[in-house]
Amino acid sequence: MTRKRVLSGIQPTSDSFHLGNYLGAVKQWVELQEEHDAFYCIVDLHALTVETDPTLLRKRTLVSAAQLLALGISPEKSTLFVQSHVPAHNQLGWIMECLTGFGEASRMTQFKDKSQKSGTDTTRVGLFTYPMLMSADILLYQAHYVPVGEDQRQHIELTRDLAERFNTKYGQTFRIPEGYILKEGAKIYDIQEPTSKMSKSSGSGSGLIEIMDTPEANAKKIKSAVTDTGREVKFDLAQKPGISNLLTIHSALSGKSVSELEAEFEGKGYGDFKSAVAEVVVEYLRPIRARALELLEDEKHLIDILHDGAQKAKEVAALTISDTYKNLGMVL
Ligand code: AMP
Ligand code: TRP
Repeated sequence: MTRKRVLSGIQPTSDSFHLGNYLGAVKQWVELQEEHDAFYCIVDLHALTVETDPTLLRKRTLVSAAQLLALGISPEKSTLFVQSHVPAHNQLGWIMECLTGFGEASRMTQFKDKSQKSGTDTTRVGLFTYPMLMSADILLYQAHYVPVGEDQRQHIELTRDLAERFNTKYGQTFRIPEGYILKEGAKIYDIQEPTSKMSKSSGSGSGLIEIMDTPEANAKKIKSAVTDTGREVKFDLAQKPGISNLLTIHSALSGKSVSELEAEFEGKGYGDFKSAVAEVVVEYLRPIRARALELLEDEKHLIDILHDGAQKAKEVAALTISDTYKNLGMVL
């Protein structure tokens, strides 16, 4: 039986992934590669939708690749590549733009939020057409499933609409993909402000646990995580968001259930609990960071892995482009 295909992408927009990126996205990527034909893409073209610095973009693309490999994406099991290495993304992106209504694109809430924040003068047209490029990323590979966070649901809906529209007008060309969207439990909150999600764009960074940070820095951050009133280690999102978030993190990394952890820490204070969480996080991330740093030392080897991935991706993408062009009536 042929394996179902999975595709996802992540933007190279920070010096490190944080625990939310890992537990909310990349951990599922690693699991899905076992039973699926997985394509994972570092979406550097998407990163250009906001002001970028060339030195940083290059560095962040490589550090993203190193982290994905260190976190368990295997080049034997998955096709790991950089979006700009496969020009078919731009080719199909344009076609998707020509298929999308202006009003339809204007309804994308992520665009509305981001453009409202920065104002029309600094908002790039690329930010507006970003979801069409994302549709192209997905449709090129005829993906069955797209593992993403809840915030991407609307973009997946648009992708499905565009694929159906194209198929109806021009003949069967694209598989209609399904979002593989995680349950609420996979949302990780800021450890200083446990009612907002852990995010690189929030606050000072003291609430962010980053994979590439030193073990000492992460241990210190967790030990000074915000806790709640009371003294019991109990999962209660409404009354105890800080403790609940730390329980979610501990449980996801140690494999112990939340109720086991509640029992283990019964009668112990928040201090003991935070020390235990710090230890679990630090020991989990230590070898991952070390492996990522080791991969970054041999840039050529890392880029070779990405080029190999791009080669495989190009072969699949070329088939879709040729069908798309043919069905559109382009002379081949
Ligand atoms: P971003 O860095 O926001 O582009 O997110 C990359 C991936 O990580 C997306 O699939 C997000 O849904 C996921 N993600 C980001 N922040 C969190 C979080 N705090 N909790 C769970 N998943 C997250
Ligand atoms: N827009 C996604 C995000 O911000 C990243 C992305 C780009 C993506 N292309 C994709 C995700 C294709 C899944 C499939 O998280």
